Amino acid sequence: MKDALAYAQAHHDDFVEELNDLLRIPSISTDPTYDADVQRAAGWLVDHLKSLGVAQAEAVATGGHPIVFARHIVDETRPTVLVYGHYDVQPPDPLDLWESPPFEPVIKNGDLYARGTCDDKGQLFMHLKALESYVKTDGQPPVNLKFIFEGEEESGSKHLPGFIEAHKDDLAADVVVISDTTLFAPGVPSITYGLRGMAYVEVTLTGPDRDLHSGMYGGAVENPINALARLIAGLHDENHRITIPGFYDNVRPLTDEERATFRALPFDAQAWAAEVGVETTKTEAGYSALEGTSARPTLDCNGIWGGYIGEGAKTVLPSKASAKISMRLVPNQTPEEITDKIRQYFEANTPATMHLTFTDLHGGYGVLVDTNSPAMDAAAQALEGVYGQRPFFTRSGGSIPVVADFKEILGLDSVLMGFGLDSDAIHSPNEHFGLDRFQQGIESIIRFMTIYGHQS
Ligand code: BES
Ligand code: ZN
Repeated sequence: MKDALAYAQAHHDDFVEELNDLLRIPSISTDPTYDADVQRAAGWLVDHLKSLGVAQAEAVATGGHPIVFARHIVDETRPTVLVYGHYDVQPPDPLDLWESPPFEPVIKNGDLYARGTCDDKGQLFMHLKALESYVKTDGQPPVNLKFIFEGEEESGSKHLPGFIEAHKDDLAADVVVISDTTLFAPGVPSITYGLRGMAYVEVTLTGPDRDLHSGMYGGAVENPINALARLIAGLHDENHRITIPGFYDNVRPLTDEERATFRALPFDAQAWAAEVGVETTKTEAGYSALEGTSARPTLDCNGIWGGYIGEGAKTVLPSKASAKISMRLVPNQTPEEITDKIRQYFEANTPATMHLTFTDLHGGYGVLVDTNSPAMDAAAQALEGVYGQRPFFTRSGGSIPVVADFKEILGLDSVLMGFGLDSDAIHSPNEHFGLDRFQQGIESIIRFMTIYGHQS
């Protein structure tokens, strides 16, 4: 292992150069304009895997974006680690807020800036460089490796469950390892054992069959934007609880022990809020900010549009108004159930003057992973080796729907060993990833492979 660690340190700059090639490909999965780029990123990964001596690596067509699947079996008696990552990225919009172009990586103050540096190309790449560090020194890693890299994670993972179902044998492993989450704080490692699920919908209210003069019609024809704003405002009450009937029915209450664990985490909510320029946090009554962002379900309007949004003023009573709404779910809530309930809310509350169009965009299940397992122990030891302190076990508010699929379809637990920070601006302008954390990630993965490979 020592040689592999030394190799990783000596080749840091080369690794970053290579990663930059991948970052230059705008693999935005949600926008069909970029389909060829998503395809190109998949091909790039296959070529890269092959260059590391991984014989079986291919980009498998899915009907959507390809899934990169690779196998590196060194010894059938050794444990097998299935590494998951995603090579697609979020759209970079709003473009004018980027200080440097999103697909032209640059280093500033030790951070690498580009869309996907942290989420998730940079983190996925750490696994390939950990493998390389072994291959180039000891010859082989101490575990068998399988890689599954998705190109649709940021847009709903439509084809992934079917792929896993159809390739159960190919994907057989002892554990899944994913680096697509965050550290607890700079220099403070954590293993994420909980993720939230997701239900994502779009609604449109249509009133008059065309835009109208707001002076001629305003006062007697109801305005869809006004109506939609009212419906959206009605989704929360004054305690910031969600009002959709039955929304909390299946939420598993937090135990006293879980709440004590949250309280024990070193977290300053005020400072955290200040970092994003807000005066104070706003939580569901009775819950802390940490609980609110990871262990309680939420509802957020992600976008809202309609009418005139150009320069100056236009007196229009618009025909339509639309909104995108996502709900983060906690274990035991299902996207099907919640999508049904919000559909009923909109159906019941749409005024008679409007027509409702409701679209279910996508959903995914939340998870809680067992923290007592040989792989978790190995990951904790690996992180301790790099950071000099035991990791915290934390729950995260983000969603990685495949974690529930791996459990459900393959019976596999995932170790979520991520190296991002809240301040990395994922899904925002100026996404970046600290190159120190890129290096720590590679070293943590090398240590994990050694500890896990020799322990089982
Ligand atoms: N890497 C994130 C998930 C994440 C972020 C986990 C921060 C923990 C901390 C992932 O790529 C992501 O953004 N997922 C989407 C999934 C959704 C589209 C179903 C998300 O959470 O919005
Ligand atoms: Zn991600």
